[in-house]
Amino acid sequence: MAIIVDDISRTFHEYLLLPGLTTKEHTPHNVSLKASIQRHTASEGAKISLNIPFVSAAMQAVSGPELAIALARKGGSAFIFCSQGIEEQAEMVRLVKEHKAGFVESDSNLSPDASLLDAVNLRKRTGHSTIAVTERGEPNSKLLGILTSKDFWEFKDDLSRPIREFYTPLEKLVLAQEGVTLQGATELLWKNKKECLPIIDKAGNLKYLVFRRDYFDHKSNPDELTDNEKRLFVGAALNTFDYKERAKALIDAGVDCLCLDSSDGYTEWQAEAARHIRKEYGKEIIIGGGNIVTKEAFRYLVESADVDFVKVGIGGGSICITREQKGIGRGQASAVMDVAAERDKYFKEKKIYVPICSDGGLNSDTQVIIALAMGADFVMMGKYFAMTEESPTNKITYRGRLYKPYWGEGSNRAKNWQRYSQSDSDKLSFEEGVDAFVPYSGRLGDKVDISTAKIRAAMCNVGVLNIKEFHEKARLTRVSEMTLVEGGTSTVEQLDRIPSDRG
Ligand code: IMP
Repeated sequence: MAIIVDDISRTFHEYLLLPGLTTKEHTPHNVSLKASIQRHTASEGAKISLNIPFVSAAMQAVSGPELAIALARKGGSAFIFCSQGIEEQAEMVRLVKEHKAGFVESDSNLSPDASLLDAVNLRKRTGHSTIAVTERGEPNSKLLGILTSKDFWEFKDDLSRPIREFYTPLEKLVLAQEGVTLQGATELLWKNKKECLPIIDKAGNLKYLVFRRDYFDHKSNPDELTDNEKRLFVGAALNTFDYKERAKALIDAGVDCLCLDSSDGYTEWQAEAARHIRKEYGKEIIIGGGNIVTKEAFRYLVESADVDFVKVGIGGGSICITREQKGIGRGQASAVMDVAAERDKYFKEKKIYVPICSDGGLNSDTQVIIALAMGADFVMMGKYFAMTEESPTNKITYRGRLYKPYWGEGSNRAKNWQRYSQSDSDKLSFEEGVDAFVPYSGRLGDKVDISTAKIRAAMCNVGVLNIKEFHEKARLTRVSEMTLVEGGTSTVEQLDRIPSDRG
């Protein structure tokens, strides 16, 4: 007979944190949300940590370069999806690594022969009022001047006239040479009372523009996660099929962290792939493994595959139908608690700490808080990020509300066959994910700021200042159904929900 594990699959929703003593030092400002992402000994500590415990799921509808840039600027990391060609994925990594905070590539460029009407139309299309006038009318071409709305009068000037008669020429601009630091560029902007500073190379070609307003934006992201060369940090996913070529291309593109992406990572294929990458690229490259939901699988990946971190979660994802389709999985809270206990045991035995990531099914900031309290070092989320402005999909309107498309990597749409099968057939025999829509939630930075503020506040209530202390000191209680009702607001009419008398 099969073994019935003496355990009930529990979810985060079934627990609440108990407050601990909050002393005067427990203020949100003093809380550190740094999360280790690399195995380490107690004496060495983690060499590389996330500045906030958030990573984005390796999914087509989630982790493209724009989202990766936005998340790294907030202190977390994206995992660029591998359900695409090797070169395409490496190019996305390259785009993130080449992004220079504060240095933007001009997206509004015209040649001097273009008309004022072209300039007006371009401004409407991009929403940007600074137009670079270059020899070929594109970036990376010889800069001749800049045209802004101050250089002509849209409603009076003859819009058929060429912009060569209007733009501010090079001699009248303040410029900087490529290689200037953001600090240096900002000082030039301030000293000369300018809004925009073009950066050119030795041949006079336009490389970047630096805007005064971006300086404030940069200052408002103090947690930005970067590598040793101050380039933004980025991760990428790998499968267990073409990992040899893929890992090489991603590492050549500058990736900081790789993660084997599998719905069931307790396999010899995964151990083999991780060992190969470790042997080829050494301890410098961070390798994550998963997904798993048991302590045995944790031991296996840590000992046989030498991974840096382990992702926990099967069947909990918002678009996931693995449990329905195959009857495989585990309640996310039970999985995290089981694996976290084994992680702590392993640390006691070997003095090596292997961080764990809770992946999937996190439906609210509360659940993120409970996941961290239960032992997760950081969390991976798909839906949460798919809803943001920066995810790779376009917004749609439905019944007056904005939505973004979101689909599972195991859905036919993602055509990510490798992740869900050991066969190399290119047709899915059944799906493990659905194709859906999620409400649009605005810019990633604003959303993350609110979530991290709640985590910090909860940690202050518990009386802890960092994630390690959170794991050690958190006390949780199971909730009954009636406790959930008591915690809600169903006995009062909320102002914004009272139907108006005009119907
Ligand atoms: P979410 O944060 O609840 O939306 O879950 C995201 C997680 O679901 C991902 O990080 C994956 O681990 C998992 N996932 C992604 N696509 C699929 C799928 O098609 N089926 C099952 N799980 C998936």
